[in-house]
Amino acid sequence: MIYYFSGNGNSRWVAEQIAAATNDTVENISDYIKNKKEIQCPSQDEKVGIVFPIHSWYAPRPVIDFVDKLRFNADTYRYMVCTCGDDAGKTASRFRRHFKFDAAWSVRMPNTYIPMFDLDSDTVARLKIEEGREKIKEIAEDVNNRKKKVRDVFEGAFPFTKTYIINYLFYKFVVTSKGFTVDDSCISCGNCRDACPVNNIRLVDGRPTWADNCIHCMACIHTCPQRSINFKTATKKRGRYLLKRYVTR
Ligand SMILES: Cc1cc2nc3c(=O)[nH]c(=O)nc-3n(C[C@H](O)[C@H](O)[C@H](O)COP(=O)(O)O)c2cc1C
Repeated sequence: MIYYFSGNGNSRWVAEQIAAATNDTVENISDYIKNKKEIQCPSQDEKVGIVFPIHSWYAPRPVIDFVDKLRFNADTYRYMVCTCGDDAGKTASRFRRHFKFDAAWSVRMPNTYIPMFDLDSDTVARLKIEEGREKIKEIAEDVNNRKKKVRDVFEGAFPFTKTYIINYLFYKFVVTSKGFTVDDSCISCGNCRDACPVNNIRLVDGRPTWADNCIHCMACIHTCPQRSINFKTATKKRGRYLLKRYVTR
């Protein structure tokens, strides 16, 4: 079984590609959150993978909450794969305290965090995905061979500072629902509500409103067909990311 969490589809796509190459199935961690689905202990599975995006050089909180509840047989082969725009810091070591994996990889995918950076150019996005496909083949081969002691996560510069200090400051000072705005071009389609992986958006009188459980994945902004949603002013001039622009499968 592969459990994935994904804001904008990158991690879902990676999970599905690995599943196809390892004869496995996927489950969306959001379904457990949104539908209050009960977590079954995957004790019958001989291999369990967790795939998630890097948010400020670590795993998003819902992923940690989910893996904390999973229980395994001692001999279940376990692995993690994180997707990141560039680097993952010390995610693997920090995540291992919650999920005792045998192997860990990172896969570079297009950036989605537009409050701070613009999207990758089309050329860079396509290159990342093509390189990602190659990396996924290697991952699948290792998973099929139950390879252990793999640590192929790109940490980047100053990984400790990023994962333990900047990550803390990011959640304390940056991640908030308060800066989201919606303008009059909103057509009440509900895409933002449906795309939110943590059920944080409701439509009130046809307009999205954000509760205070936002994780800043930006799915609401990227999936809005009208570009009606922004976070403060930073995202107004930035691109919108849709994975389906780059992959058909
Ligand atoms: C809140 C947030 C924080 C992010 N922080 C990082 C980061 O620290 N390092 C990095 O390389 N990419 C970072 N990214 C980029 C994502 O990890 C990357 O685009 C990922 O593939 C998105 O996956 P998803 O589409 O499954 O949500 C961040 C994205 C978001 C939304």
